[in-house]
Amino acid sequence: MSLLRKKTIEQSIADTDEPEYQLKKRLSAVDLTVFGIGVIIGAGIFTLTGRAAKTFAGPGIALSFVLAAFCCALAALCYAEFSSTVPVSGSAYTFSYFSLGEIFAWIIGWDLLLELMLGSSVVAQGWSTYAALFLDQIGLGWPSSIGPDSNVNVLAMLLVVVLATLATIGIKESMRVNLVLVAIKLFVVLFVIVAGLFYIKGSNLSPFIPPSVPTPDAHVEWTTPLFQALFGFTPSTFGVMGLVSGASLVFFAFIGFDVVATTAEEAKNPQRDLPRGIIGSLAICTVLYVLVCIVITGMIKYTDINSEAALAEAFRSVGKPSFATLISAGAVAGLTTVVLTLMIGAARVVFAMSRDHLMPRELGKTHPKWGTPYRLTIAIGVVVAIVAGVTPIGKLEEMVNIGTLAAFTLVSIAVPLLRRSRPDIQRSFRVPGNPVIPIVAALICLYLMLNLSMETWLRFIIWMALGFLVYAVYGYRRSRVGVEERTGEATRA
Ligand code: ALA
Repeated sequence: MSLLRKKTIEQSIADTDEPEYQLKKRLSAVDLTVFGIGVIIGAGIFTLTGRAAKTFAGPGIALSFVLAAFCCALAALCYAEFSSTVPVSGSAYTFSYFSLGEIFAWIIGWDLLLELMLGSSVVAQGWSTYAALFLDQIGLGWPSSIGPDSNVNVLAMLLVVVLATLATIGIKESMRVNLVLVAIKLFVVLFVIVAGLFYIKGSNLSPFIPPSVPTPDAHVEWTTPLFQALFGFTPSTFGVMGLVSGASLVFFAFIGFDVVATTAEEAKNPQRDLPRGIIGSLAICTVLYVLVCIVITGMIKYTDINSEAALAEAFRSVGKPSFATLISAGAVAGLTTVVLTLMIGAARVVFAMSRDHLMPRELGKTHPKWGTPYRLTIAIGVVVAIVAGVTPIGKLEEMVNIGTLAAFTLVSIAVPLLRRSRPDIQRSFRVPGNPVIPIVAALICLYLMLNLSMETWLRFIIWMALGFLVYAVYGYRRSRVGVEERTGEATRA
């Protein structure tokens, strides 16, 4: 039973007052929304849209985005309820510690690490592709022997080092840089929509949902979605199944609104501003995404889309190469903020875990002047830089998705459970229609997970097995809640 030991909400809140582990409360609702948009709009829309349209859904990719957004919106409501109730760093990890128990908290924390660290590495690599392209377009160039296609991607590593330094020095400073970059990114996305409108051809959008085609050879492969393999469907792309597979992939484009919740402790008025930041940034991004999809698949037949740099190439194909340069610049700015924010999020999750002694406690100490968990921010920067620089991770977005969807599922289930076990606590934001909405949210997340490929599932299972091992060897024994339970002594003030 001790695997299900819980931290109380009161303990979680009391922890935030410990001087050694204190974060500065400086963020406003606008900061949080900008932070959200900064992390949401990124590689997903700049690169995945093309791949998903070309291989899974055709122009119907806009509907895949709507489906993924619907799933995220339901999960966002659950995140908003938790973070407005218990504004403590660590997001889903912290929520599940007091609602589901330690082992679930560990599972979620481990999932979040996968989401955030692998996510930042994947996006850093995407960034380096655009950065090299941009440097070429403006005539500067970058040596290909240390570029995105080489064995050591120095460009991606450089980005991570600069951003990790920024995140170490201070969250408010990071937010300022973020603001400028988010403005550039929003401008470029709006530019794509407005400029692209003039090049839409109705014939490109028809059929909107291309008829389903069996995958070549039609036998089950590692890349077949688990759902199709499990239920014996002939593996296929396009059609309705294609829309769902597309949604499971472009789900990546929405990842990040949950990261807003990881900064809960740094918000000035978390009860009011966190729900606003989470739901606001998600809503703005959804509208932009659907418009971008319609424009891109309207400008160019989905079969001809460039799956690496769809947005820029669509403009080149209609004879506007200068627009393509502008879009590359926007992508460089845009992906920078994603990497920064994902790394800050990862640091906040490990921070919360180390405060609970599920990870080494020394890691979580905050810097006396900067007020950031500097040690682990540096450690995370090093890991992300190495993974981005020397591993061929290329197309691991699905891996990030599965970790995130697993966390969303557990957070959704936790909402009705906590309503039952702690009806007394004040919730400044409540999910409407409880328990139906949280249960539907969990089911949709599970369904999207099942639509990810079998190879993604295999990797995910290996990652989780590793997590259980770490927990068994380290966290289970050292857990602060566990030690207090065994010795009966309080270790906190
Ligand atoms: N949502 C983020 C992106 O698309 C992770 O890059």
